[in-house]
Amino acid sequence: MKQSDQSWWRHGIFYQVYPRSFQDSNADGVGDIAGIIDRLPYLLELGIDALWLSPIFPSPMADFGYDISDYTGVDPLFGTMADFDALIGAVHANGLKLILDLVPNHTSDRHPWFIASRSSRDDAKRDWYIWREPAADGGPPNNWMSEFGGSAWAYDAATRQYYYHAFLAQQPDLNWRNPQLRQAIHDVMRFWLRKGVDGFRVDVIWHLIKDEQFRDNPPNPDFREGQPPHWKVRPLRTTDQPEIHDVIAEMRRVIDEFDARVLIGEIYLPFERLVTYYGKDLAGAHLPFNFALLSAPWHARAIEQIIADYEAALPAGAWPNWVLGNHDRPRVASRVGPAQARVAAMLLLTLRGTPTLYYGDEIGMHQVAIAPDQVRDPFEKNVPGIGMGRDGCRTPMQWNATPYAGFSTVAPWLPLSDDFAQDNVVNLDADQRSILSLYKALIDFRKKSPQLVSGGYVPIAAQGDLLIYRRQGDAAAVVIALNLAAEPVSIASDTFRLDGEILLSSFLDRQGEKIQHVLDLRGNEGVIIGGQRDKS
Ligand code: NOJ
Repeated sequence: MKQSDQSWWRHGIFYQVYPRSFQDSNADGVGDIAGIIDRLPYLLELGIDALWLSPIFPSPMADFGYDISDYTGVDPLFGTMADFDALIGAVHANGLKLILDLVPNHTSDRHPWFIASRSSRDDAKRDWYIWREPAADGGPPNNWMSEFGGSAWAYDAATRQYYYHAFLAQQPDLNWRNPQLRQAIHDVMRFWLRKGVDGFRVDVIWHLIKDEQFRDNPPNPDFREGQPPHWKVRPLRTTDQPEIHDVIAEMRRVIDEFDARVLIGEIYLPFERLVTYYGKDLAGAHLPFNFALLSAPWHARAIEQIIADYEAALPAGAWPNWVLGNHDRPRVASRVGPAQARVAAMLLLTLRGTPTLYYGDEIGMHQVAIAPDQVRDPFEKNVPGIGMGRDGCRTPMQWNATPYAGFSTVAPWLPLSDDFAQDNVVNLDADQRSILSLYKALIDFRKKSPQLVSGGYVPIAAQGDLLIYRRQGDAAAVVIALNLAAEPVSIASDTFRLDGEILLSSFLDRQGEKIQHVLDLRGNEGVIIGGQRDKS
């Protein structure tokens, strides 16, 4: 891809690396930048186009890098700035793109900005964070809750005010109503953009601005025991505020100072709200992350409806995207089961819009059970026992069958899955029908198929466990038929105008088979069919 290709983020395939867990190169049990460089050949062979790295910046690691104490450095755990420069050089030399995580909602409480801010009410940086007087009874200023449990307000005894933290108390929220703060983060963006990074995934972008009047959040009548405590209130005053769109438009202008960069937003909102993040005249985020598949009930009709709703909600000219996994949500192979994980892969890589893969999903990594004494995630520590823990989806990449899976030569920071001796890159590569081979085949197929990259999405009415759609290009179309159940199914292909040729089956064993009158799908099978007589 050429640097000047303005559309690379529309046409490419993204891959999220969680740096702590990808490859350890210095035998400390934690992944690092040099390790990512070592594994670039794997990513090239897989065929992805852009890497997104979760935070690599200096951090006390209270939230594993999402608590940053220096926005323009590299944490020694991950390497040096020279390592980073080597990474970006190697990524670009191989025609790939590099996306960094930008975490502008909060810093670490050890960031010099916060140390200054909390030092005195009169400090120049006091207003860079969100400070409030106690309530009349001395308690927190209002009922806002932390996503990681408890009140979102922490009391600072020295200056006798509370500061707001949407996440941990060690992650004080920045005040995006302060113009100097905005400027400072814009300069952080420019620092990395000048180094050549191809864009940012912006952490909790819909959280940046909070209600100016600090009104209470309303109670959530649907809250039930067993749900995370912050769901007790609806985040009406703490997220998705109208002023956020100006903040994002400003960030976008910084991005647009540079050639062909991308702005991706982390946003968990229903579609009608999500799509507002493309911004007025599409001057907001290029890609507001679409996380609908992360929590979708795995039923054909439900997914068909999700796709239809998303397609219908997209503003004219807005480019779609789809995500199947990330470092905050249970692994797809555990959510839908290993058999359906192959169908999910076909879905992700044949839908209209930029796909983002999460490291390890391509080898079918599942959620790893974490014993109580192995828990690292602060969310699980603060809100234990209700299944919120994120360690299980962050375990080390399984490269081979050596004692630490080729990830490290010492015990890793999180336990390895107990199946790594079988389910690893080396073994799955040698198996021509493995999930890894399927991912490679799908990626390769997508790259060679303009219909999949930029064709239209046309649903085909199907019933039961079948999800069928056409991707219509200018010259030709392909049809994707997915069986979301374990039972086989026969489809009258005449009715659906499916007759043609199987170009790819999720079992990787039917290529070239002709379809005439009947399409038989095995349980958990998906196929891509081409060569239909009727393209209408
Ligand atoms: C979203 C990130 O993806 C998550 O890992 C983190 O804990 C929170 N933001 C707070 O930064």
